[in-house]
Amino acid sequence: MMKAVQVTGYGDVDQLQVVDLLPPSPKQDEVLVRVKACGINNTEIWMREGAYGTDEESGWRPEGVQFPRIPGSDITGEVVEVGSGMDDSMIGRRVVLFPFTSSGQDGEEHIADDMSFIGSEYDGGYAEYVAWPAALCYDMPLDSFVDSAAFSVSGLTAWHMNEQIDIQPGQTIVVTGASGGVGSLNVQIAANVHGANVYAIVGDLKEADKLKALGASRVFSYRSETLADEILEANGGPVDAVLDVVGDALFKTSFEILKNGGKFCISGSAGGQTTHLDFRTLYLKHITMYGSVLGTREEFKAMLDAIAAGRIKPVIDRTFPLVEARAAQTYFKQKGKFGKIVLLP
Ligand SMILES: NC(=O)c1ccc[n+]([C@@H]2O[C@H](COP(=O)([O-])OP(=O)(O)OC[C@H]3O[C@@H](n4cnc5c(N)ncnc54)[C@H](OP(=O)(O)O)[C@@H]3O)[C@@H](O)[C@H]2O)c1
Repeated sequence: MMKAVQVTGYGDVDQLQVVDLLPPSPKQDEVLVRVKACGINNTEIWMREGAYGTDEESGWRPEGVQFPRIPGSDITGEVVEVGSGMDDSMIGRRVVLFPFTSSGQDGEEHIADDMSFIGSEYDGGYAEYVAWPAALCYDMPLDSFVDSAAFSVSGLTAWHMNEQIDIQPGQTIVVTGASGGVGSLNVQIAANVHGANVYAIVGDLKEADKLKALGASRVFSYRSETLADEILEANGGPVDAVLDVVGDALFKTSFEILKNGGKFCISGSAGGQTTHLDFRTLYLKHITMYGSVLGTREEFKAMLDAIAAGRIKPVIDRTFPLVEARAAQTYFKQKGKFGKIVLLP
């Protein structure tokens, strides 16, 4: 038997139940992974809360989630068994899992209609074992299971956002939610992979030194009433692009600080899911907007290479034992954390 945590229906953390289950059996071309660490993402919290739905509760797909479901998508572990069609050579490999399946061609897998996510459409990593296609298991980029579990969803999302806006060295890029999972990686990728001048936005300026260590040149607080003016003054004018995960709370500021022809890329809405947009700002400033979900397998591999080369570093806030998943998700939702929360089966 294995220990696992299941979401039993839409609702609060009480819907997370610790259960004993038979481990999954790897099917053809799959492997069984003994999970060593699983990073938490907002995705599985919104999945439990049903917060992706607009008129009614739903997962990120309109048809909703089949409960019970084991959440968790940022998984590292060791291959302990292989399904039919595979030789034993993968046994013992320490792997990180690419988090979704898709029939999309290379480069388009993240926009295919049948994209199916581990932890939503498949049982995920809040468990001692998970079965997953061998072709979507990559060698761990770092020695530590915990460190290597800090990147999958947030890192792939950040990597893809950076690719979308095609950053040129020396451009000024503003990163919102910079203390969070996606934002802290946006800071690192924009600064250390693309050579951008990165301005990070956080709530509490006591995080400033940590963000500068990750690559930010300046750090601003969204609590300041003069945030837009401070950024314009620091840059000597408007900025080239905004990488956003906050949505409504900083949308007005983003459009104020963007240059004519600037780029706005959004992958999350931690600070409000709907907003007011004056179309005149959009067209008079010739702003390009990008929506972003996850990324491609090629981008995942490029990200793992950058991690192995030390250009992107794990930012871990703290770990929790798997059986404390309720406490871990509650902690994730609180303000003031810095980086990823990781569960340990
Ligand atoms: N599209 C995708 O593929 C994808 C992938 C991963 C995540 N996401 C989404 O991206 C968002 C961020 O995810 P995450 O994992 O980085 O979450 P996280 O670690 O909780 O970070 C959220 C960040 O947003 C900031 N924030 C929250 N409310 C704010 C407000 N009212 N004003 C300004 N800043 C605010 C927080 O700053 P403070 O703590 O300082 O308040 C924190 O830095 C979520 O909406 C998530 O669902 C999307």
